[in-house]
Amino acid sequence: MTSVMILNGPNLNLLGTRQPEVYGKTTLADIEASCAAHAKALGISVTCAQSNDEGTLIDHIHAARGSHDAIILNAGAYTHTSIALMDAISSVELPTIELHLSNIHARETYRHKSFIAPVAIGQICGFGPHGYILALDALAARLSAK
Ligand code: DQA
Repeated sequence: MTSVMILNGPNLNLLGTRQPEVYGKTTLADIEASCAAHAKALGISVTCAQSNDEGTLIDHIHAARGSHDAIILNAGAYTHTSIALMDAISSVELPTIELHLSNIHARETYRHKSFIAPVAIGQICGFGPHGYILALDALAARLSAK
């Protein structure tokens, strides 16, 4: 069975209460539950993890190699700063979708730069929690076509 790791970075554990005018009121637990249900309908399995720590996110990416077929990564603010996360994605050679709830290109200029984008197969941003569902659909189509 195709297996996808959904990895969320710093401050995303606070979804639901964190700046709801930007990120909405849906909690991370809600997002993970809807991903699990949607993945089941697609016939794929998902494993979800969240960390506020850059090194722990890198450890999760390393561990994904060999146990998962693809990654959905919302690296939060590390998107805009972390060469280490970019290198981790390059190193494991797993198809990775960069995901953001908000449209980072319509926000502050420091959010326009992404270190993840050059090593991702694509970027989904601006669709709120539904972005995770779009990412699962994209991966299911891509992986079944292989
Ligand atoms: C975010 C966008 C980032 O710029 C920000 O630092 C986040 C959340 C998003 O999902 O919209 O923490 O990744």
